[in-house]
Order: sequence, then structure tokens, then C-alpha cells
Amino acid sequence: MQLTTIANCLKQFSQLAGVSDSPRLDIEIFLTHILQKNRTYLFTWPDQELSAKQAQTFNEFFVRRLTGEPVAHIIGQREFWSLPIMVNNFTLIPRPDTELLVEATLGLFAEDDASQSRRLLDLGTGTGAIVLALAHEKKSWRCVGVDKELAAVELAEKNRVQLNLQNVKIQQSDWFAALANETAFDVIVSNPPYIDLNDEHLSEGDVRFEPLSALVADNKGLADLEFIIAQAPHYLMSSGWLLVEHGYDQGEAVRNLFAANHFDNINTFRDFGRNERVTIGQKVN
Ligand SMILES: C[S@@+](CC[C@H](N)C(=O)[O-])C[C@H]1O[C@@H](n2cnc3c(N)ncnc32)[C@H](O)[C@@H]1O
Repeated sequence: MQLTTIANCLKQFSQLAGVSDSPRLDIEIFLTHILQKNRTYLFTWPDQELSAKQAQTFNEFFVRRLTGEPVAHIIGQREFWSLPIMVNNFTLIPRPDTELLVEATLGLFAEDDASQSRRLLDLGTGTGAIVLALAHEKKSWRCVGVDKELAAVELAEKNRVQLNLQNVKIQQSDWFAALANETAFDVIVSNPPYIDLNDEHLSEGDVRFEPLSALVADNKGLADLEFIIAQAPHYLMSSGWLLVEHGYDQGEAVRNLFAANHFDNINTFRDFGRNERVTIGQKVN
């Protein structure tokens, strides 16, 4: 019988080529997760043998990946802003492009000193990735993350506890509905559902395993963005900022929505693929 070594596991990557754009990386992630070691370890100790239990787990992960199941769902985790974020199939797996929203938010307050307190709201927090990344960077900020789905709220709260962030409150809310007494935020961020139900990408890759409640919005994917951009001024302090993630082809529509709702200093940032991805605007006094 062939030994299950790290090298033998890595060699199996070609079998995943049909279901994954990153088959070798997928296997590396499985192995680092199972062995609790970093990637350098895999290349330094290729002849290390997996225990029987580790080998069994690897085979289970491998078979699940062959069905197309996302790597993040299989290991129950995804790294976001260098933080380990637990994931499940009740909400979106955080995407690398969403780090742009975090970066753009931090850029607006780059002149603040470390003790400056700001109030931040994250709408549709999902795993909590965005609000937790920002709360991690800005310990003096008071942050709120809301989601309509109870299962997402529970997951975000678990992530908050795991990351030991005391400056974040996670709560259930249908957008602003539960926030009537919480106005005057300095900044509101959101990565809402923005995909059209007929978009062909919904039948490809990881999104097949994610809930439509996290992905799809009416009116060509713009309905939730329209609602958030129209309502945000009521919850922002004067000169407060709104930042939203949107689809690669929604930049112009979103900028028009900001302009129609009395925002100024409107600007769109491009993601790693050079697509328009995050639009920001400042509430006109
Ligand atoms: C695209 S996901 C973003 C999740 C997370 N913020 C991220 O960037 O990874 C959108 C999230 O919005 C939530 N959502 C959808 N409709 C909502 C509503 N009416 N009120 C609050 N949250 C909502 C979904 O449950 C989902 O978690």
C-alpha cells in the first residue's frame, strides 16, 4: 500500500483541475489545515507521513472538493484581512475583493490619531468579515454589524468572540430597521446582495453553494443598493461616509444613486481585476 505522504497528497492536484481554478493551492490549504502547519512546512517536509486519521480527513476533503464544494466550506474557514473567519453555508464566503472596502474605509480616516473614536455600521455583515476587520484595525471605534439572517448573526457573533473584539456589536436587523435609536454614524459600509437572479455566474463555482439571500437582489441586482443609498443619510452624521461594494458593471448606476441622494465627493475604486467594485460618497451637510 502506498504511504500517504505530503508529497503524495500534493501530487493529486491534477484530479481537481476540472472543478477548481487553483487545484494545487486547494490541496495545500487542506494539508495546512489538517496538519496545522504553514505552507513552507509542506515544501520542507514532503516525505512526512500523515497519520491514519489525517489521511482519512484528507480523503474526505478531497472527495468533497471533487463535487465542487468550496474549500472554505470544507475546512469551515476563510482568511480575510489576515484574520481567520469561520464560514458556513448560511452566508457569503468573504472574498479578497471585499478587502478593498476595508482599505477604502481606513483610507478615509488615515489622519485620525489612535484614540479617535468613530461609529461604524456594517449592513449585511454575513460572517462579520468587514466589521471585524475594521474593528481589529481601529480598537477605539465603536462598530455595529447587522444581518437579516439569524444564522449569519450567530456566525458573526462567534467570529467576534473568537477574535476577542470588544468594540463590535452584532445584531439582527432588516437593513436599518432595528437601528431607529442608533443614528449619527461616522461611516456606513455594506457589501449587499447585488447579483441579478438571471446572472449566469450563479451556476458557476463557489456561488452554487451560497444562499441566494446573500447574493441576489431585484431590479438587475440594484434593489438593495438603492434602498441602502437612499436611507443611509438618515443614519449618518453630517459629512459622514457611505461605502458600498457593487457589481463590476454597476459603477455608473451606483454613482448616479449617490448623486441623487445628496452625496458629495463620490468616487469609485477598482478591484484586483481592475473592475469598478467599491463606490464611496460623503453626506452633504
Ligand atoms: C453579499 S453578502 C455580504 C456578507 C459579508 N458582508 C461579506 O462581505 O462577506 C450580503 C449579506 O447581506 C445580508 N442581507 C440580505 N438582505 C438583508 C437585509 N434586508 N437586511 C440585512 N441584511 C441582509 C445577507 O444575509 C448576507 O449576509
